[in-house]
Amino acid sequence: MKESSRLHRFMFPLSVKVTLTVLIAVLATMGLASTGILRQSPGYSLAWLVLVTTVSFRYAKYLSGAARALLHGIREITARGTLKTQIAPRGRDEIGAIAEAFNDLTASLHAHKEKLAARLAELEFLHEATRGLTQAGSLQELLPRLLEKSLQAVGRRCGAIYLARGSELFLAYQRGLDEVAASGAVERLALERVEPLPEVSPGFPLPLTPASRECLDKAFGKWAMVPLQAGCELVGSIMIAENVSGEGPVSGDVRFIETIAREFATLVHNSLLAEKVKAQEKELRRLALDAITSQDAERARLSRELHDSVGQALGVVKFNLELLQNRLAGRNGVRSREMYQWLGSPLEMVMEAMQELRRIVDELRPSVVEEMGLADAIRWYSHCLRERTGIAVEALVDIGGNHLDSAVETAIYRIVQEACINAIKHGRASSIYITLRGAQGSMLELRVEDNGRGFLVDELEASGQARAGSGVRGIRERVLLLRGEVNLTSAPGRGTCLEVRLPRQPRFVVSSEEGGKGDAAAYAGIYR
Ligand SMILES: Nc1ncnc2c1ncn2[C@@H]1O[C@H](COP(=O)(O)OP(=O)(O)O)[C@@H](O)[C@H]1O
Ligand SMILES: [Mg+2]
Repeated sequence: MKESSRLHRFMFPLSVKVTLTVLIAVLATMGLASTGILRQSPGYSLAWLVLVTTVSFRYAKYLSGAARALLHGIREITARGTLKTQIAPRGRDEIGAIAEAFNDLTASLHAHKEKLAARLAELEFLHEATRGLTQAGSLQELLPRLLEKSLQAVGRRCGAIYLARGSELFLAYQRGLDEVAASGAVERLALERVEPLPEVSPGFPLPLTPASRECLDKAFGKWAMVPLQAGCELVGSIMIAENVSGEGPVSGDVRFIETIAREFATLVHNSLLAEKVKAQEKELRRLALDAITSQDAERARLSRELHDSVGQALGVVKFNLELLQNRLAGRNGVRSREMYQWLGSPLEMVMEAMQELRRIVDELRPSVVEEMGLADAIRWYSHCLRERTGIAVEALVDIGGNHLDSAVETAIYRIVQEACINAIKHGRASSIYITLRGAQGSMLELRVEDNGRGFLVDELEASGQARAGSGVRGIRERVLLLRGEVNLTSAPGRGTCLEVRLPRQPRFVVSSEEGGKGDAAAYAGIYR
């Protein structure tokens, strides 16, 4: 249309107009001169002069007017940046075409400027949102912020975030949709297919089943679902729905939400992964705790069984042997004396066995800590060890009078036992030095040092589970569960030193009830 109007104008070019006017003026002057009118009548000459001057003036004015209008328009742009400036087209010639081209130029520049401004606003919003969202420490923090930013971006009040799991989407967080969400109608949505999805592409429709679409249609008049897609993996989706006043999403909303979804899908994906790792860690801790708890329970049971069955049986055997010996003691005769002497050896063996049994029972029995308290239990244990082995075992305990958590007490007692047994069994140590401090402050510091043969700690660490024995691993697991630290130093020929730091009141002990929730439960509902 514009092209044709320009062609139409070029039928009257300025050059033709001026040439024709000058030609007519020259021809008319020549004609008038040939008739002698100009020479004979000065009045005619003057009139002719005025006519020619007026026509020239009008042309000059026309040209300068056009130039001024153009200049004004250019100044409006350069000085004030007003790209809306339009100049009135003059005539159907090049001047008119220039005016129109100028107007087209400013209009297109204006449109581009508007687009740029809108994009800039989007980028600023995204930049600001990124700051807010990347600071979110967990998925529970991230999802509300993401939804809030999405709704804020499009000026809406109702929406939800779904997280994908298998071929379903679970409502993870919602805003402004309490009633619908409470009804459970849109808590789970089914997908027609899951993998593989095309690489992130704007406008990619979420493959919801017709039944799920129907559920959404029933629940909300208008709704839009934008996939949160990290690479080819569907992470979830952002939904905007009709609000109370019946205002539903429009295509502009969807486009911007798509931009947001593209920017933040990876963040959600990473948060989900971190959440899974955390859950797995928790599960591992729970398993470790279960293992340690059942180990303790098994030890207690064994201690009881040994005490009650073997201990009692040995007691009866000892009693009978002593009775027999006493009876034989009063008799004369070679045979009786022989019998009496012969009985001395089994009686001694039974007494030794009883002593050994008592040691085992005491070692297995955790209740010694409950009965005596940790400090006395360690002192008592080192005393027994000294008596039994002849090794110089010394214990220095200074933990103040305040009550300690029983999990911490048991852990420390078991660690002391394990370290001492290792020092004797593996290190063949001749002295063991135990210190436990923690009267002040929130941490307990245990140190078990021996002068035994020592070993290469790195080799033990590298061997993992392959190397026999679970004592050191058990120590690490106990300490890890209680959020403490372990440091084991040793070298061949240089003894071994075990250092453990434990909080007096453990910040974290996994309860058996925790950690049982599946991911589905974690996704559905708990963030609302
Ligand atoms: N105090 C120590 N002195 C020398 N070697 C030790 C000491 N403590 C641990 N070790 C070494 O570490 C290995 C693993 O110990 P541990 O985990 O307690 O298993 P276990 O005592 O059941 O064999 C031992 O086989 C031994 O080689
Ligand atoms: Mg051991």
